[in-house]
Amino acid sequence: MDIVRRPLRHGFQLLESALDRVFPPAWQPLYHLGALAFFCLWVVTVSGIYVYVFFDTGTVEAYRSVERITIDHWYHAGVMRSLHRYASGGMVLFMLLHLLREFSLDRYRGSRWFTWVTGIVVIWLVYISGITGYWLVWDELAQFTAIRTAELVDALGIFGEPIARNFLTPASLDDRFFTLMLFLHIAIPLILFIILWVHLQRVSRPEINPPRGLTVMMLAGMVVLSLIKPAVSHPPADLGRMLGEIRLDWYYLGFYPLADVIGERGLLGLLAVLTISLAALPFMPPLRRAPVATVNLDFCNGCDRCVQDCPYAAVTLVPRTDGLPFEHEARVEPSLCVSCGICTGACPTATPFRQRGRMIAGIELPHLALKDMRALTDRAAEGLEGDRRVLVFGCDHGVAIDRLSDPAIGAVRLPCVGMLPPAFIDYVLSRDLADGVVLTGCAEEACYNRLGIAWTEARIEGQRDPYLRKRVPRERVLRVWPGKSGDQVLAAALAGFRETLPAQPTARALPRQAAPAAVAPEAALEPVPAPGGGDD
Ligand code: HEM
Ligand code: SF4
Ligand code: SF4
Repeated sequence: MDIVRRPLRHGFQLLESALDRVFPPAWQPLYHLGALAFFCLWVVTVSGIYVYVFFDTGTVEAYRSVERITIDHWYHAGVMRSLHRYASGGMVLFMLLHLLREFSLDRYRGSRWFTWVTGIVVIWLVYISGITGYWLVWDELAQFTAIRTAELVDALGIFGEPIARNFLTPASLDDRFFTLMLFLHIAIPLILFIILWVHLQRVSRPEINPPRGLTVMMLAGMVVLSLIKPAVSHPPADLGRMLGEIRLDWYYLGFYPLADVIGERGLLGLLAVLTISLAALPFMPPLRRAPVATVNLDFCNGCDRCVQDCPYAAVTLVPRTDGLPFEHEARVEPSLCVSCGICTGACPTATPFRQRGRMIAGIELPHLALKDMRALTDRAAEGLEGDRRVLVFGCDHGVAIDRLSDPAIGAVRLPCVGMLPPAFIDYVLSRDLADGVVLTGCAEEACYNRLGIAWTEARIEGQRDPYLRKRVPRERVLRVWPGKSGDQVLAAALAGFRETLPAQPTARALPRQAAPAAVAPEAALEPVPAPGGGDD
């Protein structure tokens, strides 16, 4: 699968870099594709309700009412009709881009399989709703769509009577057909909302609304498009006449002409194979899965911070099971955990100031426990030479920081920058392991693990526990979010940052912190430390 995924990722990276030059992070459409698809769905819903008020059902009335909307009431209902059409197209576009981007980022396997597979159900529902919408206008495009769809359904062979017969002559079609179509066109989007809710069950705090600027830009774009190129109908349907030239909506109906080439059964087979292959993707090799987070009960006081910060709703609080005097303990649901480590960054017991034997956090990744993070930090700092030494903490999904070759710059790579407890920054600066600390990772607004950058920023700004202690000089901490291909941005930011650091740093180092003589288990289990504190 990597043969397909890598070039796709490369393509997205190029596109993202190009758009990064045009848009600020909060306006970058590629970083908000799921939310944009959602936004289109809201526009479709509101405009659909508006247009419905003016819509009549019936073989003749349907077309007439839509023409009235488009021509006589163009300035409100007509615009709404066009918005309905363009937002439906936008939904397909953003949905398919969202699918491709998640695939290119390898965010579809392991515990993400559920979100991926429910996404495939969403595709079918979006298509069925869109196609039934085209029937409602009852123009020649509707006639084409209705006949082609009926032929496809007949090829399934599940109905005794072929339903395509309903479209043989004008007399074979009655008004009940429109009532049925209208019912489907309204009922299926309702089911779509329910499935989307299921789709988001495994992500906490899903971004279902794009940032405000992007929303305004998209809406304005769709309104302008609706005004300069309003949606119009084909001539009215007439089952007794040959169809004229059909202008297909390629987003929804683009696959219909394929039936002419491979036949109805061939097309059905192709759609089935595509659906099954997409659904099977998460279960295909290589089945990479890093060990999931584990809770060390002796160091967990049930403070809830890991529950709040986990981006995948993988941690819950449950009643205490070990007799220690706390009401709750954290519990990880292994099938939900993506091994991002953000929970360690959230845990107040995750501090490098602990004595070596007690270097354990309440929640840790087994392959990168607190003691390993401290060892990596110490090792990266040991090798630093020269003035203005900098330690860079980065993530697996940003610039490859291990390739930074300056002897005054060390690197510690984590699965997500949100895994870094702020106490590590304090540790590096107060122990004079480096003169400055740089935090880097994915592009802002595009954190691979969804919330890692947001939580890191909030912790350093003092807006979210555990926060960086006030005594840590902020001018010696730099955050830079250049994304995977931002080598040059990072290099420039590093160079600029180092210029600002004191040339003879040791003299300005913070008072050295003494390691506690011994941290008793109870000490680690004391109620959550005051904001900003570790147990140093
Ligand atoms: C109208 C259609 C869709 C909408 C509105 C939608 C919406 C969303 C939203 C809002 C998120 C959460 C984003 C975040 O906060 O980080 C999300 C995540 C996700 N979606 Fe969709 N989605 C749609 C279709 C699909 C499809 C077709 C697929 C793939 C088959 C898909 C796969 C995923 C995956 C894998 C994630 C999880 C990403 C992660 O683990 O970080 N979605 N979707
Ligand atoms: S590593 Fe921690 S934060 Fe990340 S998904 Fe697992 S439990 Fe949640
Ligand atoms: S002490 Fe750590 S592991 Fe326990 S609930 Fe708090 S953050 Fe989670």
